Amino acid sequence: MTNSTFQSRRDFIAKSGSLLAGSFFIHPIAQALDLHDKPAKMRIALVGTGVRGCSMFGKSVLETYGDLVEFVGLSDKNPGRLAYGKKYIGADCPTYVDFDQMLAETQPDALIVTTMDSTHHEFIIKGLQAGINVISEKPMTTDEFKCQAILDAERESSKKLIVTFNYRYSPHRQRLYELLRAGEIGDLTSVDFHWYLDIHHGADYFRRWHRRKEFGGSLLVHKSTHHFDLLNWWIDSDPEEVYAFGELEFYGKKGPYRHTTCRGCPHAGECDFFWDITKSQHLVNLYTENEEYDGYHRDGCVFRDDVDIYDKMAVQIKYKNKVQVSYSLTTYSPYEGYRIAFNGTKGRLEAWIKERQPWEEASADEIHLTKNFGEREIITIPHGGGGHGGGDTRLKDKVFKDPSMADPWRQSAGSRDGAMSILIGVAARNSIEQSKPIKIQDLTDIELKETGRGA
Ligand SMILES: NC(=O)c1ccc[n+]([C@@H]2O[C@H](COP(=O)([O-])OP(=O)(O)OC[C@H]3O[C@@H](n4cnc5c(N)ncnc54)[C@H](O)[C@@H]3O)[C@@H](O)[C@H]2O)c1
Repeated sequence: MTNSTFQSRRDFIAKSGSLLAGSFFIHPIAQALDLHDKPAKMRIALVGTGVRGCSMFGKSVLETYGDLVEFVGLSDKNPGRLAYGKKYIGADCPTYVDFDQMLAETQPDALIVTTMDSTHHEFIIKGLQAGINVISEKPMTTDEFKCQAILDAERESSKKLIVTFNYRYSPHRQRLYELLRAGEIGDLTSVDFHWYLDIHHGADYFRRWHRRKEFGGSLLVHKSTHHFDLLNWWIDSDPEEVYAFGELEFYGKKGPYRHTTCRGCPHAGECDFFWDITKSQHLVNLYTENEEYDGYHRDGCVFRDDVDIYDKMAVQIKYKNKVQVSYSLTTYSPYEGYRIAFNGTKGRLEAWIKERQPWEEASADEIHLTKNFGEREIITIPHGGGGHGGGDTRLKDKVFKDPSMADPWRQSAGSRDGAMSILIGVAARNSIEQSKPIKIQDLTDIELKETGRGA
């Protein structure tokens, strides 16, 4: 970044300070960039050099925003993955197996957390306690107790937490948000939302650490946090009560046979889910070559006995503003995507989004807007380039390129949004385990709002 670019961004932040004190949201990274006596680049440390940390928040950040940010430290508990991660990212910085040592020695402006879900809270809390802004991958955390600890740490810190909800940034979801806010279907009353993971991507969750509740909180937290965040954002109210069902009846011990990993499996020839990790040199370098350090198998058998998450889930959610949601998640569909319908007092807004399918890919998404006693309008939204329909790029532009960028669609998410989305998943998990409805208010001390969550 040139000095003049940096100066203008700092000037903007300084000049807009009085404005920001009002209704405007002060972006946490904008605070991090207000570095009067520090070098121009944002100094970033990252913990968790797995596939996400290396790519989305590592190599790609350095390649795209290298003039604005620099890595000052990388950390991971697996020293082999850490060494490969540094090479892959192309960062010229020290590496640390000891996270505390990294924080103390590098004193970064921002910390990126891309570790396994159940460990996010440890690093988020330590970062906030050390007076550092934190950018965490979703899900913010995996249970209500860790969630409360994060909220407490942020309240006691002068710094902020951003949760990277990339799904909000995809163009068709933003259009749905605009149409809802514009009142095109009158008052929103209920939502039908059904998400289908296919036999490739869906199955992959059952190969990895995600297959255990203790690591990912179940797919109701690990995966559905995206979907519940979208619902909270679209509906613009807080969830109040949740009732859910879930079963494991396709993967895990329900499978016809099993082995530890696909490598060396005696059933490789007959198993539809056989997956050869050695076909990807990147994955071999990341995982199989570093099994000696932590015993982690990236190509675990989807039928292992230790799978304890659900593979089909149905959730009913009642919101503070009385909107009712019927949500489901299926993990072994022939194609991947989702159906959504918003029912309102004046009409219905629908989409059938195909994220991956065995036949020709669509080049655009369609939204159907049908007015009661009126016409149907078909709104076509071309796909954005890049991961998650262009969402990944747009999110990173906001975080790393222009943190002061206006946020008219409220796509930037903080700890409250991170909490509210995981709490629906936690409530659903608790509901399945306890066979009773769960009230969100009983999980943390967040005061629920009927509307205007973003205000
Ligand atoms: N937003 C999205 O679309 C998206 C997509 C993929 C992953 N993610 C999130 O990114 C995160 C990382 O996922 P991934 O696919 O890269 O997983 P991964 O298993 O490839 O990487 C996780 C890394 O964390 C390290 N780790 C685990 N516990 C640790 C600890 N206590 N201390 C230090 N390091 C530790 C592991 O060694 C590993 O290198 C997860 O939270 C996941 O939910 C988000």
